[in-house]
Amino acid sequence: MSIVVTGATGHLGRHVVEQLLEKVPAEQITAVVRDEAKAADFAARGVKLAVADYNAPDTFDGLFAAGDKVLLISGNEFDKGRVQQHRVVIDAARSAGVALLAYTSAPGSLEAALADDHRATEEALLASGLPYSLLRNGWYHENYTENLAPVLEHDAVVSAAGEGRVSSASRADYAAAAVAVLTGEGHENTTYELGGDVAWSFAEYAAELSRQTGKEIAYNAVTGEALKGILAGAGVPAPFAEILVGVDASIEKGELVVSSGDLSRLAGRPTTPLAEAVAAALKG
Ligand SMILES: NC(=O)c1ccc[n+]([C@@H]2O[C@H](COP(=O)([O-])OP(=O)(O)OC[C@H]3O[C@@H](n4cnc5c(N)ncnc54)[C@H](OP(=O)(O)O)[C@@H]3O)[C@@H](O)[C@H]2O)c1
Repeated sequence: MSIVVTGATGHLGRHVVEQLLEKVPAEQITAVVRDEAKAADFAARGVKLAVADYNAPDTFDGLFAAGDKVLLISGNEFDKGRVQQHRVVIDAARSAGVALLAYTSAPGSLEAALADDHRATEEALLASGLPYSLLRNGWYHENYTENLAPVLEHDAVVSAAGEGRVSSASRADYAAAAVAVLTGEGHENTTYELGGDVAWSFAEYAAELSRQTGKEIAYNAVTGEALKGILAGAGVPAPFAEILVGVDASIEKGELVVSSGDLSRLAGRPTTPLAEAVAAALKG
């Protein structure tokens, strides 16, 4: 019996493996990776590696075993049909008879186009009959704090989300929830709505940046059309800009506010404050 993590060399996956290593012996962890070289540090610590690609179903043949607990981390290749990619993992897990398949999804309240792949994957997982856990991850702090360069250059936070609020949390927080589900008992057939304890607005985010940098950083609320133009000017490809503008529209409608408390409950501690993620990002 193994705890198997796909996307293990991604940002979230690395946090998950690191936190698993604090809880279970390394030989009980399997990291599914596309490039073994990227996971050399894990292998050196005794984590098992399996090389597989969501685009190549045969690479998942025999990868899972009966009784495994699996975390399927959603892919990031938006142009390659993520639902089909995720089905490859679900099918392999069903053939093997895994004990749990946890999937990193999106909040149930999110209606932006970005959520479509997640809803379809959830349906495929439920239809598989496997014991499942839907980890409906809200937004990462890092979506914002790892993209501070233009904000600091122009002394402005630009968004098309109006006065909307976001319950973001750090990737490490979401990883803690996943680890709790993978190492704990009684998480079969559960749906967790995961988000940070505090929902913040972009005006508050600008104020926090001002406080920590000592500069006057304004909140510049723009329309979706204006944001598309700004993103195009910054070289962001149109389909991606469309996704980002759609997310802001969802935020304005309150679709990324998560008030279940599931994340801090599973993590067993409060979620990381946005101010902490800002401080970490400014420190570089
Ligand atoms: N909640 C949020 O705010 C938010 C924000 C961004 C993304 N997401 C979603 O959450 C996921 C995890 O976030 P993250 O920050 O860890 O993203 P990330 O750093 O981009 O990691 C994505 C992971 O998926 C793996 N992957 C992509 N295509 C694959 C394929 N064809 N076969 C096997 N593995 C594949 C990548 O493998 P390599 O390491 O080999 O590249 C990587 O490990 C993302 O992929 C995305 O679906 C959520």
